[in-house]
Amino acid sequence: MVIAIDGPAASGKGTLARRLADHLGLPHLDTGLLYRAVARDLLDRREALEAPDLAAAAAGALDLGRLDDPRLRERHMGEAASIVSAFPTVRSALLSLQRRFAEREGGAVLDGRDIGTVVCPAAKLKLFVTASPEERARRRLRELRGNGEATAYEAVLDDIRRRDERDSSRSAAPLRVAADAVVVDTTSLDADGAFARALAIVHALDAPARAG
Ligand code: CDP
Repeated sequence: MVIAIDGPAASGKGTLARRLADHLGLPHLDTGLLYRAVARDLLDRREALEAPDLAAAAAGALDLGRLDDPRLRERHMGEAASIVSAFPTVRSALLSLQRRFAEREGGAVLDGRDIGTVVCPAAKLKLFVTASPEERARRRLRELRGNGEATAYEAVLDDIRRRDERDSSRSAAPLRVAADAVVVDTTSLDADGAFARALAIVHALDAPARAG
């Protein structure tokens, strides 16, 4: 079973994807890390984030062995990822590896912005995980502080609003709810609540098969 989980920044989609994948015994790909890693490689070489050719070359040469780099979680890397991810050439350079991941036998869980709309349009289950910008800013602030990054709430809220705007308004694979996605609003749900909601949706999918 392929599960596609999309949603805006810090909506809880990553945590939910990881927990669902663990529970169902499926591999998980956080596709945001791919865009963050492209941005990191450009920044490390002191290349401009705004140059589509350099960004596409970095995407084509991406080393998947370096996705566990803690720097990818830093605040400025999310912003940088959002800049490079708007280039269609960057997106197409990363598309086939995401599809190969999704085509593994037994299925996979992928989370990002365009999984249900572009990467895996035939996914058996599509979730769109969202929450209010203020709640997302509070969560991201906790996460950044937990990683030792000192930041102010207002700055994080600004980042989130700017990123929502850029990710939703770009022409290449903009962030939007797939027609057949189930929306999970986690504004007043904690991680356990979101997981329980998602699991109920997974079981409801299986129910007709079990009944038959
Ligand atoms: O964790 P958070 O939701 O803040 O961000 P992320 O999922 O790591 O994604 C970072 C940035 O990469 C996003 O703001 C998007 O611009 C971009 N992205 C994308 O365009 N498509 C994806 N499938 C995943 C991420």
